[in-house]
Amino acid sequence: MKISVIGTGYVGLVTGTCFAQMGNAVTCVDVDEAKIAKLQEGIIPIYEPGLEEMVKQNAQKGSLVFSTRLPESLQGAQAVFIAVGTPMGEDGSADLRYVLAVAQGIGEHMEHPLVVVTKSTVPVGTADKVRQSIAKALEKRGLAVPFYVASNPEFLKEGAAIKDFMKPDRVVVGTDAPEALEVLKELYTPFMLHHDRFIAMDIKSAEMTKYAANAMLATKISFMNEIANICERVGADVNQVRNGIGSDSRIGYSFIYPGCGYGGSCFPKDVQALVKTAKDYGYTPRILESVEAVNADQKTLLVQKIVARFGEDLHGFTFALWGLAFKPETDDMREAASLTLIHLLGERGAKVVAYDPKAMEEAQKHYLKEALHVHYVKSKYDALDGVDALVLVTEWQEFRSPDFVEMKQRLKNPIFFDGRNQFTKSKMQKYGFEYHQIGAL
Ligand code: UDX
Repeated sequence: MKISVIGTGYVGLVTGTCFAQMGNAVTCVDVDEAKIAKLQEGIIPIYEPGLEEMVKQNAQKGSLVFSTRLPESLQGAQAVFIAVGTPMGEDGSADLRYVLAVAQGIGEHMEHPLVVVTKSTVPVGTADKVRQSIAKALEKRGLAVPFYVASNPEFLKEGAAIKDFMKPDRVVVGTDAPEALEVLKELYTPFMLHHDRFIAMDIKSAEMTKYAANAMLATKISFMNEIANICERVGADVNQVRNGIGSDSRIGYSFIYPGCGYGGSCFPKDVQALVKTAKDYGYTPRILESVEAVNADQKTLLVQKIVARFGEDLHGFTFALWGLAFKPETDDMREAASLTLIHLLGERGAKVVAYDPKAMEEAQKHYLKEALHVHYVKSKYDALDGVDALVLVTEWQEFRSPDFVEMKQRLKNPIFFDGRNQFTKSKMQKYGFEYHQIGAL
């Protein structure tokens, strides 16, 4: 099938590439000319395991084409996916400017029946707005070409995006016309050959499913962080509590890891957008407001622990940071806990030596351009030379089994703040470290 994917961010690029991999003819479109030029040369703007090879292979075969021209991408296409960004507006709601601009563009240029699918995470009711934008543009042209809107939220995880897309837990599709459902079913059937994971529903429910899923996961994390904070005060160990509750299949072991707060492009933005939507409809979602508030506090927890250990004034202290990305296997820095930590340490006069396997360039170029108190090094051990303490923020695999003897030799003080509870206190004490973790003494 010939399809067009608008927006070459995380979701758009992965969606387009995976559809091409399944034998479809895909055009990925973006307004950013520099980005498209790079993609045409096989240069991928993000780090995502497996993506680069798959893009190159499909581009070579001709099944994946990159372009800045929306009109041409629609020629002969049966479906067009809108996968542009929906940044968080000032008031916490999702900014639909880009989505609706694409919808208008589609209406201005489509020549034959088309299924228009929103893949970006968009508030309930957006499909209706997309429909209106297209209809208005068509009307201006005096054309009556039939088109269908559909919602197909994306559930992929960064760092596992290709795997998640190629072998999805579920594909949620919201439609209100059999024609649209049929096209989407045909596109997705190859991804679930042995097990039907296609969940069809109405459009608004599909839009809501994405927010409900992310809000539930964010709630699990904030809930667990709250339990961890109580554990610390009463002298319990959250690591043991986590095992204890996870064994109940109704609760499960996943997404109950306490830490220094969730980050990324989805949870913070989606929880806030859902709060905003609820309030727009006259309902105050108290749990979701707390999920957000607990997370904001949790991002400051490592600094609270550092201050408790070294005092309020951190002038003259230097801290090594292991990990900058919001989670492992990505160079994504959006809403990362490291940003809050670095900012607060700087405010108190401390210096930071940072190391991340993939995100240092991203951090230096965009997120920490003005953070002059941060110095970057090329290896995790180089970060330790003569610093006052080590702080682990992102649980990259290469931090899981480090050489503790070398670490101790290089650090000025063998003090370790572990924001992701990667080790046990007894082990760390054996190596002579003073070990601070989350939710356990
Ligand atoms: C998430 C959802 O998992 C995905 O389904 C959705 O479509 C988009 O948002 P992603 O943002 O890529 O994906 O990351 P995820 O792996 O879910 O991690 C989110 C954040 O939560 C990270 O900062 C992670 O460190 C944190 N986290 C996760 C915890 O603090 N504890 C946990 O137990 C799990």
